[in-house]
Amino acid sequence: MSEIRSVGVCGAGLMGNGIAQTCASAGLDVVLVELEQAPLDRGMSAIAKSLDKFVEKGKLSQTERAATAARIKASTDVADVKACDLVIEAIVENVEVKTALFRRLDEVLAPHAIICTNTSSLCVIELAAKTKRPDKVAGLHFFNPVPIMKLVEVVKTIATSQETVDALFAFSKKLGKEPILARDTPGFVVNRLLVPYLLYAIRLLEEGLASKEDIDNGMKLGCGYPMGPFELLDFVGLDTTYYIAEIMFDEFKDPMMAAPPLLKRMVLAGRLGRKSGKGFYDYA
Ligand code: 3HC
Repeated sequence: MSEIRSVGVCGAGLMGNGIAQTCASAGLDVVLVELEQAPLDRGMSAIAKSLDKFVEKGKLSQTERAATAARIKASTDVADVKACDLVIEAIVENVEVKTALFRRLDEVLAPHAIICTNTSSLCVIELAAKTKRPDKVAGLHFFNPVPIMKLVEVVKTIATSQETVDALFAFSKKLGKEPILARDTPGFVVNRLLVPYLLYAIRLLEEGLASKEDIDNGMKLGCGYPMGPFELLDFVGLDTTYYIAEIMFDEFKDPMMAAPPLLKRMVLAGRLGRKSGKGFYDYA
């Protein structure tokens, strides 16, 4: 296909609004869709806040900030993505809800358009199989915070065409990201390595090896990681990590991927990390 010029993003949550912002920053026209007005407004405010941070840090001028924001059109109607060359789905990690959206996108989009999912662990082929264009469906997995993290995983299913993969590599580079290619298995490359590491850190805490602060400092100062495992768990969300671990364990039956009892209990207690104000650390 020819170059991707306009992008639809479905879902205005943490990942969706970050993806929309990143696309607009690269000069692309973006339609950001969320079915309800309130979460759409929250997504647009998050974009404004993030752009302000870049201005404060001197990485963006006021003129560029205004031009970037103006490239994003907010909508509560999925049909508004109909003229887009690429749609990236970043809605709730629920197969039924995603499937319904993929069917709808397949109906409204032009035949050349590519549909991607930002899922971190679900089977991409299961969504692709619900469309009449499985060759034009792939995973495009971004990392949090999307406007800052450089990586994008391009996930090729057994049906994705090489032309689609090439278009997504070119697109990722246009966003200023570095793409890597991964196969369609739960966790892809990064979460497949990261999640067992995070789970193991929780096991070490359960075992009483060291305090969470010392484990975090160990990995930051000893390995140069920007965040220790407990800071990162709070940042990613304990519920998200638990959910990914469950899917990976279900697929691979590898004990390294089994959620430790403490993680499950923290999720049950509503201690989800930064987003709930409390996780391994307190953010009150
Ligand atoms: N837009 C959005 N968020 C911004 C931002 C911007 N322009 N600038 C900073 N941030 C965020 C940070 O996340 C943090 O949030 P807060 O203000 O709401 O508390 C805050 O702003 C910190 O900003 P700082 O300027 O103090 O920090 P830095 O910019 O120096 O670094 C960081 C922040 C980039 C998050 C760094 O700590 C880091 O690289 N951490 C590791 C992140 C990581 O590993 N991400 C991958 C997670 S795994 C994943 O996403 C996969 C999924 O499937 C689970």
